[in-house]
Amino acid sequence: MAGSGRLPRKFSAEWFGAAVFAGISVWLWGPRTDAAMAGEPPLVRYEIVDDTIPASLTGAAGDAARGRAIVVNRQVGLCLLCHSGPFPEERLQGSLAPSLAGVGSRYSVGQLRLRVVDQSRINPQTIMPPYYRTKDLARVAPSSRGKPILSAEQVEDIVAFLTTLKEE
Ligand code: HEC
Repeated sequence: MAGSGRLPRKFSAEWFGAAVFAGISVWLWGPRTDAAMAGEPPLVRYEIVDDTIPASLTGAAGDAARGRAIVVNRQVGLCLLCHSGPFPEERLQGSLAPSLAGVGSRYSVGQLRLRVVDQSRINPQTIMPPYYRTKDLARVAPSSRGKPILSAEQVEDIVAFLTTLKEE
C-alpha cells in the first residue's frame, strides 16, 4: 500500500509530541499542583513587627512532624542544602548556614516565622530563599509567578518543628 510507510511515522511523531508536552507540563506544573489542587487559599497577608511575624499564617498551630519531613526533604524545603541540624539519618547536610540545632532556644516563634517566610527582611544579602514572599522576586518562571515556594500551612509546620529544636 502506498501510504502504509507514512502512517506509522505520523502516528509516532504525534505520540512523541504528546509525550514531550506531557513531560514539559509535569515539569512546569507538577511540583506546584499539590498546593493548587488542595485548594490553597489566596496568599496570606502577614504583619511584621520588629523582627517577627507574631501571628500564625493559617491562624492555627502547625504540625511539627510534617514540618520535620519538609525540612529534610530534598525537593520541597531543600533546607539541608545549606543547613545542618539534629538529623542523624541524613548523610549529606549543608555547611553554608548555621546549624538548626537549638534554633528553638535562640529564637521566638515569631522570629522563626519571619526567618522562614523572608530571611531577607533580616539580612538583605542573605542567600536563604524567601519561602513565603511573592513580590520583588527575580528569575521566577512564568508558571510560578505569584506563588510562594511553600504554602502557608507548610510554613507553619516548619515553624512548629523548629520550635522543638531546643538547646540540650
Ligand atoms: C541557600 C541556602 C539556604 C537554604 C536553602 C535555607 N537556608 Fe536558612 N539560612 C541560610 C543562611 C546563610 C542563614 C544565616 C542568616 C543569613 O544569611 O542572614 C540562614 C538562617 C536561617 C535561620 C535563622 C537561624 C540562625 O541561626 O540565624 C533559620 C531558622 C533558617 N535559616 C531555617 C531554614 C529552613 C527551615 C530552611 C528550609 C525551609 C532554610 N533555612 C533553607 C541559608 C539557607
